[in-house]
Amino acid sequence: MTAAEVIDLVAMGEDFVRDPYPVYAALRERGPVHKVRIPEGTQAWLVVGYEDGRAALADPRLSKQWKNASPALPFPSPAAGPHMLNSDPPDHGRLRKLVVREFTPRRIEQLAPRVQQITDELLDEMLALPEGRADLVEALSFPLPISMICELLGVPMLDRAAFRAWTSTILTDPDPAARLAATAETSAYLVDLLERKRLSPGPDLMSALIRTTDEDGDRLSVDELRGTAWLLLVAGHETTVNLISNGVLALLTHPDQLAALRADMTLIDNAVEEMLRYDGPVETPTFRFTTEPVEIGSTVIPGGGELVLIALADANHDPARFPDPGRFDIRRPAGGHVAFGHGIHYCLGAPLARMEARIAIRALLERCPDLALDAHPAALNWRHGMLIRGPRQLPVRWTSPA
Ligand code: HEM
Repeated sequence: MTAAEVIDLVAMGEDFVRDPYPVYAALRERGPVHKVRIPEGTQAWLVVGYEDGRAALADPRLSKQWKNASPALPFPSPAAGPHMLNSDPPDHGRLRKLVVREFTPRRIEQLAPRVQQITDELLDEMLALPEGRADLVEALSFPLPISMICELLGVPMLDRAAFRAWTSTILTDPDPAARLAATAETSAYLVDLLERKRLSPGPDLMSALIRTTDEDGDRLSVDELRGTAWLLLVAGHETTVNLISNGVLALLTHPDQLAALRADMTLIDNAVEEMLRYDGPVETPTFRFTTEPVEIGSTVIPGGGELVLIALADANHDPARFPDPGRFDIRRPAGGHVAFGHGIHYCLGAPLARMEARIAIRALLERCPDLALDAHPAALNWRHGMLIRGPRQLPVRWTSPA
C-alpha cells in the first residue's frame, strides 16, 4: 500500500466507536500496517494482527518518549511528568523498579479481603435501590478500582469526581486544548496532594515514593514523582472499570456462557482472561514514535517520530492466533492475549486488575441471580477515542437479590 492512502477512522463515526472489530479485521485482510486518521486529531500508522502487533509492542525502534515525536504532531504529551510508560531504557527500568514490588501477585493477593469488602459494600448499596435497576458503571465498575488504587497510594481524600472528569478528558476528549487544560489541572492537583502527603506521610506507596525522592533524588526526581503518581492514578481510574463493564456485558449478552459460569464459578479465572481477549479495555495502547524507519509487512514506516498505534483489540481477534475470535467462550485457552500489552511496558497493574475483576464479577453474579441488561446492547453509549474501550453507562436490572 502507499502512504498516500489514509483510512479515516473518524469519518466512520459511532459505528466504529461501538464496534471497531470488523473495521480492523478488514484492514488486517489487506496487510499489517495502515495510515489512519484518528479522533485524537492527527494521523497515525496503525498496526493490526497478532504477530505484527506483538512484535511492534516490543520493538525498541518505537520510542515511548515524546521528545522523539515528530514536530508535526499537533499536541504535546498529556502526562503530568516523566514516568515509566513515557520512558525508554534505561530510565524505564529505573522508574518501573521503584514501584514494581508493590504490584507482585503475592502483594496483590493480600489486598483481596479488602477488595471483597469494598465490593460487598458497593453491592449492598446497589441492591438497596428501590427500583431494582442501576447503572453498573456508577454502582460498581468505577468505584471499586478507584477505591483500591487510592488506598494503595494512600490518597483517601482524593477529590474523585474532579479527578475522574480530568482523566476522562485526557484520555478520550477529541479536543487537544481540552486535554491540555485537564493535564494542567491534574498536575496542579498532584503538586498540592504530594505536598500534603509529604507533611503527613503514611505506610503507603505515595509516601514511600516521596521518601525516595527526598533521600535519593538520583533515583526519582520531583518531576518523575509527579509523573508516576499521575500514571498510577490514571491507570487505576480508566482501565479496570472497563474490564468489569465489558466483561459483565459479554456475559449478559451470551446467556449460555453466563449459565456455564454460574454453574461452575471455578471458571472465573479463565472467564476473566477471555473477557480481556474478547473485549479488553485498551483498544490501542499509548503512543509510540519511530526513531528510524521500521518495515512491517511490505510497508516502511518512516523514521523521525512518526506516530505508531498497535491495535490490541485486533491482535486479540486475529483468527491465526485465536480460532473463531468473535465467539465469546469462557472455556477457551485465552492465554497469550495482549490486552495488557507485551514487552518491557507490560502492564504493571495486571495482577490487581485481574483480582478486582474476579472478585467483583463473582460477587455480582452471586448476589443477583437474575441480573439482566436493562438496555438494548446496540443502544449503549461507548467512550470515544482510540485508547479506552468501554460503555459510558451499563444499565442493569434484577428482581430478587440473593
Ligand atoms: C484491566 C485493566 C488494565 C488493562 C487492560 C491495562 C492495560 C495496559 C497496557 C495495554 C499497558 C501497556 C501500554 C503500552 O505498551 O503502551 C499497560 C501499562 C501499564 N499499566 Fe495497565 N492496564 C490495566 C490496569 C492497570 C492498573 C489497575 C494499574 C495500576 C494500578 C496499571 C498500571 C500500569 C502501568 C504503571 C503501566 C506502564 C508499565 C511500563 O511502562 O512499564 N494498569 N497497562
